[in-house]
Amino acid sequence: MTTLVEGMATPSITVFPNRKVNQINRNIYSGFTEHMGRCIYGGIYDPSNPNKDLVDSQGFRKDVIDALRPLDVPVFRYPGGNFCATYHWRDGIGPRDQRPARPELAWDNVESNHFGTDEFMAWCKELNAEPYLCLNFGTGTLDEAMAWVEYCNGTRDTHYANLRRKNGHQEPYMVKYWALGNEVWGDWQVNQMAQEAYAERAHQWAKALKLLDPSIQLILCGKEGATTWDYYTLKHCLRPSGLSELGEQRVPLIDMHSIHLYTASDDHYENVTAPLAAERSIEVCSGLIDLAIHENNIPPQQKRPTICFDEWNVWLPTRAVGSKGAEETYTLSDALAVGVWLNVLVRKSKDVGMANIAQSVNVISPLMTTKDGIIKQTTWWPYELFCKFMKGHQVAVHVECEQYTGPTKPEWVKAVKDTPWLDVSATVDDEGWVGVCVVNIHAENDMKTSFEGIRRSKVEVYTVTGASLEVTNMKGKEEVGVEQSTWEPKGDDPSFLFPRSSITMLRWRTS
Ligand code: AHR
Repeated sequence: MTTLVEGMATPSITVFPNRKVNQINRNIYSGFTEHMGRCIYGGIYDPSNPNKDLVDSQGFRKDVIDALRPLDVPVFRYPGGNFCATYHWRDGIGPRDQRPARPELAWDNVESNHFGTDEFMAWCKELNAEPYLCLNFGTGTLDEAMAWVEYCNGTRDTHYANLRRKNGHQEPYMVKYWALGNEVWGDWQVNQMAQEAYAERAHQWAKALKLLDPSIQLILCGKEGATTWDYYTLKHCLRPSGLSELGEQRVPLIDMHSIHLYTASDDHYENVTAPLAAERSIEVCSGLIDLAIHENNIPPQQKRPTICFDEWNVWLPTRAVGSKGAEETYTLSDALAVGVWLNVLVRKSKDVGMANIAQSVNVISPLMTTKDGIIKQTTWWPYELFCKFMKGHQVAVHVECEQYTGPTKPEWVKAVKDTPWLDVSATVDDEGWVGVCVVNIHAENDMKTSFEGIRRSKVEVYTVTGASLEVTNMKGKEEVGVEQSTWEPKGDDPSFLFPRSSITMLRWRTS
């Protein structure tokens, strides 16, 4: 191991805690629970587990709730994912022994429907999180979608509101976030659609759903952000609010535009630079939103839609196959990639209204369950640190550092993005705590870095690293965790050593 390569200029990081760039919506740390593999059954709901200490009276895994609770995850998306395309929510309510088992086409399974809307609401309540429901744009109908909104949010003396009451839930759930389908463009979808057909359907559904409940927020189904599908659907569906279709209610039909991206490579440098593709996608998508707004003459008073990055993570589907439960084993390299992903979400937080790590338990997840307990994978630690500390406002930070210049995946990343050895984001929260996350992606070199803008006091240091890039936490031992220490910057030009292959979070109070 060496400290800096010969001839490499000393990197520098300058943080400007007083220069707020934008407010961060905490919803960027949201989760996702799909009826897929062991996410719901055996992950969050496990009533038949013989170890009764692990399960509460509702059948929920207590250890999973205890692990997630300190993260204060703001929103959970449900019930899919691809699962949504054949899901009929009415199958999953009422007495359990009367719920029908159905063939499940997305993941080639049988769905017992033992866990449904009311159970999901109860689970979210345990975690003090908001639910986000995804509508069935495959085999579902508008009538069925409206009935689901009425079941969840209805306050009047109507059929589905009364059905919820009959099922023991007097108060409405007031579900705010609803997605207009999931990955409708994909050829793996039941009822895949062309952009024209989808956009028109989404517009008509949006109108009806907002007439029924103007308080909800609707999420349009985009693709990866920088595609023709994204532009077409935005252009078709972003309209000036207050159209005659909505009478006097001046609410925009579309509140967010959903995009998805999974990155991964068995090559470390491709793996850790791939999340920068997401940064570019957000930049382009944000431009497409502006273009649609401009071309459709949407007045500046109307709320601009944000991006809902409602599936992101490190995932190689050939390595962790969807129909086999997509249980990824994450390495230290993957933890660094997730660190870069989270830096990207903070850096682009002006445009991102929500982001959901896919998924929250067992399926492509930082958190795994066994019959006897839980395992926090390597990727858990950056997720936990960001959830806890990187909130409030993004602040300006200037980084001078040499770059990785080898191949990237996709290849175009290196043509459009900087790929510095130190990937950085910075925040200040409402109590005046500054947070700086530095991912040293270099596999061999520690980086002695001149660090400016820091208050000369004790700095809290959280370090995530491990013995090699390949180590995992899935072999009976926690090889990657968080080490906490303190740093007292000395002199006029303090410097900090960022270890090779590490994530370092520095925190200090401005006052
Ligand atoms: O998160 C796993 C799957 O990946 C989701 O069901 C789907 O939307 C995406 O393709």
